[in-house]
Amino acid sequence: NAIYLAGLGGVLPKYPVDFATLKARAEAAMPPAILHYVQGGCGDEYTQDRNALAFHDWGMVPRMLVDTSQRDLSIELFGSKLPSPLFMSPIGVTGLCTQDGHGDLAAARASAQTGVPLTVSTLTNDPLEDIIAATGDTPAYFQLYTPKNHELAASLVRRAENAGYKAIVVTLDTWVTGWRPRDLNNANFPQLRGHVLQNYFTDPVFRELLGADPASDLRAAVLLWVSLFGKVLTWNDLDWLRSLTRLPIVLKGICHPDDARRAVDAGIDAIYCSNHGGRQANGGIAAIDLLPAVVDAAGATPVLFDSGVRSGSDVVKALALGATAVGIGRPYAYGLALGGAEAAAHVLRSILAEADLMMAVNGYPTIADVRSAGASRR
Ligand code: FNR
Repeated sequence: NAIYLAGLGGVLPKYPVDFATLKARAEAAMPPAILHYVQGGCGDEYTQDRNALAFHDWGMVPRMLVDTSQRDLSIELFGSKLPSPLFMSPIGVTGLCTQDGHGDLAAARASAQTGVPLTVSTLTNDPLEDIIAATGDTPAYFQLYTPKNHELAASLVRRAENAGYKAIVVTLDTWVTGWRPRDLNNANFPQLRGHVLQNYFTDPVFRELLGADPASDLRAAVLLWVSLFGKVLTWNDLDWLRSLTRLPIVLKGICHPDDARRAVDAGIDAIYCSNHGGRQANGGIAAIDLLPAVVDAAGATPVLFDSGVRSGSDVVKALALGATAVGIGRPYAYGLALGGAEAAAHVLRSILAEADLMMAVNGYPTIADVRSAGASRR
């Protein structure tokens, strides 16, 4: 509201309010290696492009003579009431998006300022305990890249639970990194230089396996991390994952309705429909086009969604297609690069302001109204 009124009042915004301008500004501001890592996707990046473009194939019909002077965007998720259905997706190089290398802490502060939950990646520049300490009263979730070593996986999950995270998001689609030409052409994988491995380096099980302080032999620590990364998860591992924690377990990367059904039958607490922002599989089908069937299959189980969300109207469309909560990735990373927590919070607020205004002008006072209105393909 403040951003909108300032604009109407002739006050220039400090940061862009739309994705195209934000992206252009971030491209000019970010060091090339980090920019390529954040911006890139797999293969020819067609899936990544389709993720965003496909939102234009979906539309909603406005309803008139409805009192939308008050809107309620709040939702319930994992036992907490949230002011909005937006969350920050896990981004493994968040730390490097700010010049001081503490972008994870800046994202956490943006979360505290906006009430938009942060999903903290396994691959962070600051330990997961320090990051959650900066999120204030806003819930946070921990994303697990499951290491091959079971004790190490258990230790990461235990630390997240002890630190107060409200859910464990297990990413399924990245036991190995996708074919990313931008990074391969530039030999550009920040984690391979140890930049985003603080959760491992501070972990007691990791340190025991290494038999040394990671700082004293960074090369050995990184090589150990490489050898441990990427347990191949199958349906047989769900009971083991369940045994690690009392927290809700979310499966990230579910795009097929049969997988959603099977996960629900196995007692999983939430489905996360995502194609990793087009960074992993380059199948060409936009995630938003896969969402309706996944929602249908999930029944009463919450469905989180991300991949290609660039604006408030994208958020409303994803909700109309059945998402319980909607995640954004690259937009907040660009915000962090432009101005740390302040700019990331601005990006989140701009997206939320547009979503709120779309609900106002389209005649949907609540998210339940958005859902029952639905969206149709053009
Ligand atoms: C990611 N993503 C990701 N996902 C995950 O589960 N763990 C991770 O560590 C990362 N790391 C990561 C780094 C970067 C630079 C990007 C851009 C993305 C995927 C992320 O959670 C999310 O699925 C996508 O970013 C959503 O797509 P958009 O919003 O970027 O189009």
